[in-house]
Amino acid sequence: MSAASQELMLSIRGVETFYGKIQALRGVDVDVHAGEIVTLIGANGAGKSTLMMTICGSPQARSGKILYRGDDITHLPTHDIMSRSIAQSPEGRRIFSRMTVMENLQMGAILEDPSTFNADLEKVFHLFPRLKERRSQRGGTLSGGEQQMLAIGRALMSRPKLLLLDEPSLGLAPLIVKQIFSAIGELNRTEGLTVFLVEQNAFHALRLAHRGYVMVNGSITMSGTGMELLSREEVRSAYLEGGAH
Ligand SMILES: Nc1ncnc2c1ncn2[C@@H]1O[C@H](COP(=O)(O)OP(=O)(O)OP(=O)(O)O)[C@@H](O)[C@H]1O
Ligand SMILES: [Mg+2]
Repeated sequence: MSAASQELMLSIRGVETFYGKIQALRGVDVDVHAGEIVTLIGANGAGKSTLMMTICGSPQARSGKILYRGDDITHLPTHDIMSRSIAQSPEGRRIFSRMTVMENLQMGAILEDPSTFNADLEKVFHLFPRLKERRSQRGGTLSGGEQQMLAIGRALMSRPKLLLLDEPSLGLAPLIVKQIFSAIGELNRTEGLTVFLVEQNAFHALRLAHRGYVMVNGSITMSGTGMELLSREEVRSAYLEGGAH
């Protein structure tokens, strides 16, 4: 399975990020090629969300470099980074709870170009039929799984080339996790969408991914294909317990 081309979409080199005096990332190197699904796994507090947020420019890396399609985005403001076909579904699915499903999806769309809106909406509804049924319901009254679908759907409305997902399976039942991961796989196969996925649910995430990285205390300690990592004893004992549903 090698859907990926060799074009380097995201290149993260020696990135160090601090919160005040606390160093959260200690020289991180990660590559994501166009067309790949790359997964980052690690325990609570390892620095996974910090890496995701550093890619988006908040907080910014104190040292190291982040290149997106060859451009140095390390010190660009977040809005500039997000206008470059990068979309993020952050941890904790920050949807607009007082707005309806439709309004949330409209917020994600590129409003300068309304011509593609209906087609994009149909695509999101095809991936997540539940959102179509609930289109008039307020975001805050959706179930956790539905809110996650909405957060991903909203990210997709901006027609990203690179989708950043922070723990899309968090707190969800195994069946919903399967649906969400299968939707991500479908987007990758049919549209060539490149995905960088942070997950604690290592079993599903590594099975889905072309390649993966393991982060411990702000450093990358292992990398390989999803299958290679899944077969390694250190990964199985540390990250798979109870996750193989
Ligand atoms: N705003 C902040 N201020 C100070 N320290 C922070 C802040 N955000 C995160 N940290 C610290 O940085 C470290 C990495 O946190 P991060 O949220 O990146 O971990 P994570 O791998 O995403 O964990 P989880 O799996 O629990 O989401 C942790 O020690 C955390 O306490
Ligand atoms: Mg996190």
